[in-house]
Amino acid sequence: MKRVSLTQYLVEEQRLHNTIPAELRLLIEVVARACKTISHAVSKGALGEVLGSAGSENVQGEVQKKLDVLSNEMLLEANEWGGHLAAMASEEMETIHPIPNRYPKGEYLLLFDPLDGSSNIDVNVSIGTIFSVLKAPEGMKEPNEEAFLQPGSKQVAAGYAVYGPQTVLVLTTGNGVNCFTLDREMGSWVLTQRDMKVPEETKEFAINASNARHWYPPVKRYIDELLAGKTGPRGRDFNMRWIASMVADVHRILNRGGIFMYPADAREPDKPGKLRLMYEANPMAFLIEQAGGAATNGKQRIMDIQPQKLHERVAVFLGSKNEVERATSYHME
Ligand code: AHG
Ligand code: MN
Ligand code: MN
Repeated sequence: MKRVSLTQYLVEEQRLHNTIPAELRLLIEVVARACKTISHAVSKGALGEVLGSAGSENVQGEVQKKLDVLSNEMLLEANEWGGHLAAMASEEMETIHPIPNRYPKGEYLLLFDPLDGSSNIDVNVSIGTIFSVLKAPEGMKEPNEEAFLQPGSKQVAAGYAVYGPQTVLVLTTGNGVNCFTLDREMGSWVLTQRDMKVPEETKEFAINASNARHWYPPVKRYIDELLAGKTGPRGRDFNMRWIASMVADVHRILNRGGIFMYPADAREPDKPGKLRLMYEANPMAFLIEQAGGAATNGKQRIMDIQPQKLHERVAVFLGSKNEVERATSYHME
């Protein structure tokens, strides 16, 4: 089999479709390199002294794990000096991270969830990194937080890495979705799946069912119908999976279909859900749509939402088109 590296893929993609100019290619390669470093740290586990709590909290009041902090630093360091970015933002930082003045600045904005699935770090279950790339408003070299508040439809690239049995990188630049596997011996990303497509029909769903008592009626109805199986209104049985790492759940869905849900619920009625719009929901929505699936907050296409805040939360329904459309339609009735 002829091996196509990430670099070769990016260069050829630019030649064919003109969607990946050199600066964006550098950005993607640098993010991929940082993910390689994170993957290496993750795989060391206790031997690398990377497990456990960092003894701090992030802006959302969540306890930071050592790997949350480490991965954040790795992504910041890798991306500061290349001249391709105007600024960065992260789940683990209250406000944006401008590029230090000693480096040249570029036109892109990078957002990331450096370590997704934190609760799985210490138990050796798949975790990952999620990222989203926007363009800074025309001519703006010193962007503020407001410059980041663009709807997901403005993303020029998005992707995630999964640190699981294999380390993979899944990427879109708006022209389909491709998957690269990390060759650990060679240290390179190799194209292993071209043009991934989410099957339209599915028999699998993913939701944290321990929150069932807090769900609002449309979610209750949708899940009850799935649980009723063959004898219920859906006329067939469904299976359930919940990994508690969005990256791993989305990766399964990209490969074999399914619907992923993290709805808003009555626990904290003011909160529109748990997941963050700008560096979790938007990049995943971009990937899923590029693979032929759908992503909504129950009412609206996720990528159409105009963000009001950097760390804004959002309800998420994404995956196989027919199921997402059904769950969304129950919210409209
Ligand atoms: P993070 O580790 O970046 O804070 O994200 C965790 C998210 C997401 O990956 C996952 O789907 C969800 O939280 C799990 O939430 P529950 O623990 O409520 O199931
Ligand atoms: Mn996350
Ligand atoms: Mn995280």
